[in-house]
Amino acid sequence: MLAEAAFKPGLEGVVAAETRLSSVDGQAGELVIAGFLLEELAGNATFEEMVYLLWHDRLPAAGELADFRVRLAAEHHLPPATLALLDAAARDKAAAMDALRMAASTLSLGREGDNAERDALKLVACFPTIVAAYWRRLNGQMPIEPRADLGHAANYLYMLTGSVPDAAHVRGLETYLNTVVDHGLNASTFTARVIISTGSDMISAVVGALGALKGPLHGGAPGPALDMVFEIGDPANAEAVLRRKLEAGERLMGFGHRVYKVRDPRADVLAAAAERMFHDSGDTALYDLSRQVEQVALRLLEAYKPGRNLQTNVEFYTALVLHGLGLPVELFTPTFAISRVGGWTAHCFEQISVGRIIRPQSAYTGSKTRRWLPVESR
Ligand code: ACO
Repeated sequence: MLAEAAFKPGLEGVVAAETRLSSVDGQAGELVIAGFLLEELAGNATFEEMVYLLWHDRLPAAGELADFRVRLAAEHHLPPATLALLDAAARDKAAAMDALRMAASTLSLGREGDNAERDALKLVACFPTIVAAYWRRLNGQMPIEPRADLGHAANYLYMLTGSVPDAAHVRGLETYLNTVVDHGLNASTFTARVIISTGSDMISAVVGALGALKGPLHGGAPGPALDMVFEIGDPANAEAVLRRKLEAGERLMGFGHRVYKVRDPRADVLAAAAERMFHDSGDTALYDLSRQVEQVALRLLEAYKPGRNLQTNVEFYTALVLHGLGLPVELFTPTFAISRVGGWTAHCFEQISVGRIIRPQSAYTGSKTRRWLPVESR
């Protein structure tokens, strides 16, 4: 019999998969995506190139990229059942992440047989269309059809607003999407791998992952991080507001990470993208305020939680970049999903090739001596 392994709450430090997709070095503050340092890819690649890289383990040649864009464009229209679901969700005023999860499930309709490649393409292609269509429906507007001549990131902004975005906005969004596309065995990716490992299908795996991403300890933090900056409003208030939160036992959103014990490298990439965008817009007030809030938060976290190495995480600057792009707070987490679905599907392909169900153990802590009592005697 195997010796029972020690239980690690939260599976901290437990290695549960091998992957060539991304390497997260929390001590060095280094993120490598399919062999490239994040800093090398984030500002250069299109999102289509990132997804191709994750799925095929190499960057596409020009012809392959053009072909990939055509194949994605062929899939980005929503079936009528998906639009009907989004209408019902909008009438119910569902949260955008719930609408995305429900709509993602409808992508199972009308497909014949299991085909992981086809489903992955459909999921990546449709996520921006779903989120934009839902947002417009929620606000009493007609959805805008995606355009085959626009790239993935540009299409998302176009479908939200009806205007073709300028190059700086597309670059800002693309930098964000590239930055968060994959990140080791995070909770939602683990969820997707567990589901696909049972022999289930790609759409089920991604729907499960969406459920995991929604939580405030994972993908749900950027909205609250921005709320915190707005609540502070002026650098002079930062110390008092943050102290009050810490003394009330609250967590400062956008700080701390299970893996990074130095600054999250994604925060730096996004801080630079935010600085560029706010600078181009001619109004750096929110960017400057955020940097000042960050400095005070880091100092107070060290004072209140000494030795925990709580640093700025990706969500803090995500909030600033997405706000700078004109996205409403309600769409921050769905926009994260529009990126991360590239990573989830790539992990599913990897897990399919492993071909072994993920089935860990639990340590039983209950009694073994109970006796059955008929219901009338309990
Ligand atoms: N603010 C205040 N205190 C914090 C914070 C924070 N943001 N994060 C951790 N701490 C404290 C904890 O209260 C705990 O203190 P204690 O030892 O006195 O009990 C200590 O630091 C260690 O915290 P853990 O919860 O053990 O750290 P864990 O690795 O489980 O948590 C997490 C990581 C969930 C991200 C946490 O730092 C957090 O809640 N941060 C705020 C939410 C957030 O920004 N989430 C986005 C993460 S990035 C992503 O998912 C893409």
